[in-house]
Amino acid sequence: MDNNDILKKVISYSKANGFIYQSSEIYDGLSAVYDYGPYGSELKNNLKEFWWKSMTQMNDNIVGIDSSVFMDPMTWKASGHIDAFNDPLIDNKDSKKRYRADVLIEDYIFKISSKVEKEVKKARKRFGDKFDEKVFRETNERVLKYSNHIDEVSSKMNSCLKSNDLQGLKNLIDSLNINDPISGTSNWTDVKQFNLMFSTEIGASSDSSKKIYLRPETAQGIFLNFLNVVNSTRVKIPFGIAQIGKAFRNEIIARQFIFRMREFEQMEMQFFVEPGSEMEWYEKWKEKRMNWHIALGLGKDSYKFHDHENLAHYANAACDIEFNFPMGFKELEGIHSRTDFDLKNHQKYSGKKLNYFDQKSGSSYIPYVVETSIGLDRLFLSVMSSALKTEKLDEGSERIVLKLPFEISPIKVAVMPLNDKDGLSEKAIKIYDDLKLNFNTQYDYKDSIGKRYRRQDSIGTPFCVTVDYDSLKDDSVTIRNRDSMKQERIPIKNLENHITKFTSINNLLRKI
Ligand code: GAP
Repeated sequence: MDNNDILKKVISYSKANGFIYQSSEIYDGLSAVYDYGPYGSELKNNLKEFWWKSMTQMNDNIVGIDSSVFMDPMTWKASGHIDAFNDPLIDNKDSKKRYRADVLIEDYIFKISSKVEKEVKKARKRFGDKFDEKVFRETNERVLKYSNHIDEVSSKMNSCLKSNDLQGLKNLIDSLNINDPISGTSNWTDVKQFNLMFSTEIGASSDSSKKIYLRPETAQGIFLNFLNVVNSTRVKIPFGIAQIGKAFRNEIIARQFIFRMREFEQMEMQFFVEPGSEMEWYEKWKEKRMNWHIALGLGKDSYKFHDHENLAHYANAACDIEFNFPMGFKELEGIHSRTDFDLKNHQKYSGKKLNYFDQKSGSSYIPYVVETSIGLDRLFLSVMSSALKTEKLDEGSERIVLKLPFEISPIKVAVMPLNDKDGLSEKAIKIYDDLKLNFNTQYDYKDSIGKRYRRQDSIGTPFCVTVDYDSLKDDSVTIRNRDSMKQERIPIKNLENHITKFTSINNLLRKI
């Protein structure tokens, strides 16, 4: 199955099994906007819980807030978003479709790297065990030619982006003969800058109303509350403020499912530090955040760091944690050393002092900030695309199973009476009523036990508990593990401990 097919499978699976639906589907769907279904919202809440607790509960010096989506419009002038939150856009005159110029070039680069990978794959097949991939990549003429070309194109693109050279981007697109994937032509307009913020009006009457923006990042709500938090709590620098909330961007490239959305959720943490110590904290947070991801258990090799060459207007260092999505390695989380840019500008535009008095050193300064910023929806996609598996079973059949980490599975346990006769369902309902006080539990009584197992496998339920005739005599049940499919007999009174042991979010928190 190629990468495109994997993504398509995740999309259709997510819809069919109650995880994610296209927004406004009955009106033919709103592009790049998605709704989370019953299992999707549970899974999303569990991911939030893991992040929130890892920040605010596991760190003495991090507190959480929940700020509003709307902020004074001056916020976005001070943050630089009104002037600089732009994408370079280009239109194709034949298809009338609009693209991000840099993404067209990145797609071109991706095509060339796929050719490199094809050569490597072919050679591996040809040389078998004797194949030395490193030597092959360093010496094969065709691979070298492709790799040099990739480096040349990337460096030209980065230099144009850095110097805001829109004509340079257009020239690059022309010189590479990049065609519109829809019309197939290279009939392009010039490249223009396009601001990504959504705006609306606030206020009741037309003369008093003013233009207001839907926040494109949650971070600014944290900056605006910096002083409030310092004055109303016992935090001392270095300390962090964490927040989970919606962000909105009028993305032009609306594709790749929930990877790039117009309305999405961010989990951001701004860590305020003494000026001059920011690089040390930047390195610490890179390591901490990577460990957090690895604790989820999707495999160490699925992640890598990517240092930014083009720094955002506010940063003096930045990197991404990339994840191996079905579309290849792409940004999952950003870690940025944001300097004092934001607080300094809010001080300038608001006229309010945002200094911090450091009692330890006796000095007063505007703190520097290290930010960690992860897209919850991208995290969801990373988990979902890694978990979806088709497995061959011993008897020759197949099962589709969502191998989510137990701790974040939407439903933790399903209780199943063998049948609904002879008091089995009454016994099962009693167990269900007890378990649901602690876990998201389902009572599943229809169809054969085999079918019920498959149904629970498909939504990632770690445990199925079967109540049979022996249960009536010995107060024990069979508990089946989703991954090993092994069944064991345990006393009903031990169920709660057993399920907690394997599904508690604390298991993940202990690993970070
Ligand atoms: N406060 C810094 C900031 O917003 P960013 O790199 O623009 O930085 C941070 O965004 C994270 O938000 C990204 O790493 C990504 O996971 C997520 N994100 C950004 N744009 C997104 C979009 N259109 N759809 C889904 N997630 C997005």
